[in-house]
Amino acid sequence: MVSVIFPAAGQGKRMNAGINKVFLELADRPMLIRTLQKFSAVPEVGELIVVVGAEEVEPVTELLEKFSGLKPWKVTEGGSERQYSVWNGLKQVDSEADVVLVHDAARPLVTVKTIEAVIAAAREHGGAIAAVPEKNTIKVVSEQGVVKSTPARSTLWAVQTPQGFRKQILLEANIKAEADGFLGTDDASLVERLGRPVHVVMSEYSNIKVTTPEDLLIAEAFLRQEKGSMLD
Ligand code: CTP
Ligand code: MG
Repeated sequence: MVSVIFPAAGQGKRMNAGINKVFLELADRPMLIRTLQKFSAVPEVGELIVVVGAEEVEPVTELLEKFSGLKPWKVTEGGSERQYSVWNGLKQVDSEADVVLVHDAARPLVTVKTIEAVIAAAREHGGAIAAVPEKNTIKVVSEQGVVKSTPARSTLWAVQTPQGFRKQILLEANIKAEADGFLGTDDASLVERLGRPVHVVMSEYSNIKVTTPEDLLIAEAFLRQEKGSMLD
């Protein structure tokens, strides 16, 4: 059984909407609901763990109760950093789960195909992440604003979520990160520190993280495309 943790306990500062961006409506539904519905369409997914701010636990519970068709869900309290929110979610994972996925609530455009591919690769290899080949040239720049180096673009992948792991590996990774005081920018970086392999799964460029106001326009355009393809 697969359990999915959704970090949703951020403040959406860069969105500047005055509320946590995951509650903003995209077309007719809150972004968070769109994300949860996507994962509920995946047969192997058995449990959704939604991690929100302390004051949001009650309203989010009430919100989710209004939507039928979601896989069994729990709402739990997050922390001051995304990594701590994920760790809190991990403590709620069902004992039956063998694979745990982590997925940003702010990525409602993920596809069922990518979710299934990450689950399969995580089960086979222990760790797997959704990603796309980087389109830009990326430079390493010093604090003084001077270019230090230019990594070959063919080696660079822009990493997204879902990121999936065998449960024991993600547990071990979080315990070690906490013990070492390590704070990573994604879940896989904690697993990489164990010296364990993390495999890359080809995702879609449309799986954006809705971060700034213009991302809402982009997300709505992709949603129109999604609707169109469902009518085909
Ligand atoms: N998140 C979380 N707990 C935190 C910080 C972030 O669960 N302490 C979640 C966010 O809710 C989001 C995901 O992690 O779904 C990715 O984070 P990000 O896009 O940075 O969202 P915010 O932190 O809300 O946005 P900002 O950084 O602009 O404030
Ligand atoms: Mg943030």
